[in-house]
Amino acid sequence: MDLTTQELTFTSDLISSKPKAWIHVLSELIGKPNISVLEIGSYEGKSAIWFLTHILTGTGSTITCIDHWHNVPFNESLFDKNIAAINCSHKVRKIKGYSNEELMKLYGEKYDVIFIDGDHSAWGCLSDMVISWSLLKNKGYMIIDDYIWDTTYKKDMNQWERPKLAIDSFMNCYVNRFEIMHKDMQVILKKTTGDIGPWYAPYNPQEKSDK
Ligand SMILES: C[S@@+](CC[C@H](N)C(=O)[O-])C[C@H]1O[C@@H](n2cnc3c(N)ncnc32)[C@H](O)[C@@H]1O
Repeated sequence: MDLTTQELTFTSDLISSKPKAWIHVLSELIGKPNISVLEIGSYEGKSAIWFLTHILTGTGSTITCIDHWHNVPFNESLFDKNIAAINCSHKVRKIKGYSNEELMKLYGEKYDVIFIDGDHSAWGCLSDMVISWSLLKNKGYMIIDDYIWDTTYKKDMNQWERPKLAIDSFMNCYVNRFEIMHKDMQVILKKTTGDIGPWYAPYNPQEKSDK
């Protein structure tokens, strides 16, 4: 779908350069039934609409969108309007709130893809990655935005004000539990193990991994 030809309104374009890598990595999911995406940071809906129109075209496929929409209230109305304009409201679960609180409530759910584009501070991004990792299916994909975030004023930001420190720290701690599918402006990780590590399996042999 060419988004410019639709009845869509965006005040800024935050994703246009990103989906090239996504379509390549996520190609196996395109059009399949019951694919589920979790998005943290939905803003005016552009990335959600990309998922809906490129990946989630199969029956029963859905996206869960978390955003507090507190900074600029009209971003939320534009999100609602844009999702309605592509007739996809029935495929979207909108959750208004802060990710660290809302993700906890999703405990037990499993997603094929998780896109992290909310709080860009290192601690906020790390927290989103750690909490949502357990919501990711084995063989699922986690996409984290703005690994390289060096445009204009952001050059002077401290490392704890950007996602890169969080993404690097996560990858160091979770080593051997994922495959790096892409590393550039964004990082895409494929989960290669379940949530239960072999080191503590002996202590809880009844517990099942999500393999
Ligand atoms: C960069 S924008 C997302 C852009 C969107 N993914 C797109 O490509 O169109 C970041 C969004 O994250 C939201 N956000 C920031 N911190 C958050 C948090 N802790 N919990 C929930 N949403 C948050 C902001 O309200 C904002 O709408």
